[in-house]
Amino acid sequence: MAKELFLGLDLSTQSLTAVVIDLSNKEIRQNSLNFDDRYPSYKTEGGVIICEDPKVVHSDPRMWIEALDDILNWLKEKGLTAHIRGIGVSAQQHGSVYLNQDAPVALSLLNPSHKMLAQIQNVFSRKTSPVWMDSSTNKECLEITESLGDDLNVARLTGSIATERFAGPQIRKFWKEGRENYEKTNYISLISSFVTSLLIGRLVPVDAGDGFGMNLADIRTGEWSEAALRATAPDLKRRLPQLVTKDVVVGNVSKYLVERYSFNPDTKVIVGSGDNPCSLVGLGLIGEPNISAISLGTSDTYFGYMPKLLDKKRSTGHIFGTANGKYMFLICFKNGSLAREQVKNSYSLSWHEFSKILLDTPPGNRGRIMLPYFLPEITPLMLEPEVSRFGGLAKEDAQANVRAVAEAQVMAMYLHSDWTGHQPKSILVTAGGSENRGLLKVISHVFGAEVRSFEVKESAALGAAIRAVYCCLNNEGAKIGWNELIEMFVKGHVAHVVYPSPNDVKIYHDKHGLLSVYEACEKFALGIGENPHRKIEVFKKQFPNHDGPK
Ligand code: XUL
Repeated sequence: MAKELFLGLDLSTQSLTAVVIDLSNKEIRQNSLNFDDRYPSYKTEGGVIICEDPKVVHSDPRMWIEALDDILNWLKEKGLTAHIRGIGVSAQQHGSVYLNQDAPVALSLLNPSHKMLAQIQNVFSRKTSPVWMDSSTNKECLEITESLGDDLNVARLTGSIATERFAGPQIRKFWKEGRENYEKTNYISLISSFVTSLLIGRLVPVDAGDGFGMNLADIRTGEWSEAALRATAPDLKRRLPQLVTKDVVVGNVSKYLVERYSFNPDTKVIVGSGDNPCSLVGLGLIGEPNISAISLGTSDTYFGYMPKLLDKKRSTGHIFGTANGKYMFLICFKNGSLAREQVKNSYSLSWHEFSKILLDTPPGNRGRIMLPYFLPEITPLMLEPEVSRFGGLAKEDAQANVRAVAEAQVMAMYLHSDWTGHQPKSILVTAGGSENRGLLKVISHVFGAEVRSFEVKESAALGAAIRAVYCCLNNEGAKIGWNELIEMFVKGHVAHVVYPSPNDVKIYHDKHGLLSVYEACEKFALGIGENPHRKIEVFKKQFPNHDGPK
């Protein structure tokens, strides 16, 4: 049978991944290029450039261009490119790319005899791109909030309160700090639309999955909000890409891809999106309101499908668009795998040992709690990184600290997702950390839900590929449903299922359980609550049976 291939690319924080799915035999192939290892000249750590100020986190778009050429070359060497019918792009969300007036011509005239970078390295009006880990725009967030009213107004309008890492506040900071460079900026892309533009050779629209994560769009109309634009920077609209609220084909691959990498000139490229909206598809959750997802990647995210807009008052979390023109909720935690890794490394443990500790030690950690803000945290907003320990958690106690970091991260997810009203029967866990069985167990106890780990680590790239199939085939009149595609490429990939035990769930959910203790610790650290000491003592009395290893 002839190959019928669709390609999903995911440009994440640390790597560029290609996932190729074959409609004719349901086969999945993949390859990843790690930025730190492959492109040392950019001096990245974990894919980002470390600045003196830990709040400033950028990356170099030239590195992404090099990686794109290299992954396309791999696809060609494997003999795949000529069979690819459609391409979808996923990328880390919120990062913005700033281009000058030369960009459209340079993109359209790429010469297939040379690599891309040398031909387009002069199209940037800002050398580096602020990425989602950047938290340096608190002042700009306050200014935007003030001009739009208050947090509630901003969240109601744009889907999120003004958020440090979002492109809107980042653009405002760029305008304030370097008006000359802002003047030289004719086009602002998100990373997903930038990569998509490189494939087509033309600047392309941005989708609502990524575009709603800018604090610039009205999530009800699906258009740029004039009020939000005014609050952000002057003369901004003409610099932004068009916003589309549903997946569409944005063009065919460029002559550069056809001639240099042997793509078929009919290969379609669909609008790019953020990694989380793509993972929603890659995990089979599009249209599914009863299952939520946890992605344990560089950041931890908790997300799920939201068929109807929710207007609940909240100060955390986001609402983005989805491939089918609906919504999803998402809460992002920056101290995800990076914090787990810090704890693991500081006791010289392997990941296997880390997981075993979580399986062997008692839930509730005898009331010992950590607030693991090794980096500035997004949820809750904690701009000055600090690790605090409560309930007699001794720094030298490896076991207790491992349990404390895992429990804290999962309890924060549970508590900060309360506003979504989502009570999942089941949670799908994806990305690197999903191999950690101990962590899966903690998630199932804290959420009181069944937890399934997903063996395809690259759910964002897989989701991008599935979006491409759905959009391209339906565009040709094939009438293929999401469920059919999910059946084909997603359902078979549940690796491991963990069920919660009611006694362990109670330790967290009891009136005096660990969730209430953790919440008190968090409020205390944020300066909005009293010392949690008494609550901790009550917890210890209430759960004496858990005072010792299981
Ligand atoms: C989501 C977020 C992160 C990035 C990283 O809002 O900031 O999950 O998308 O990949």
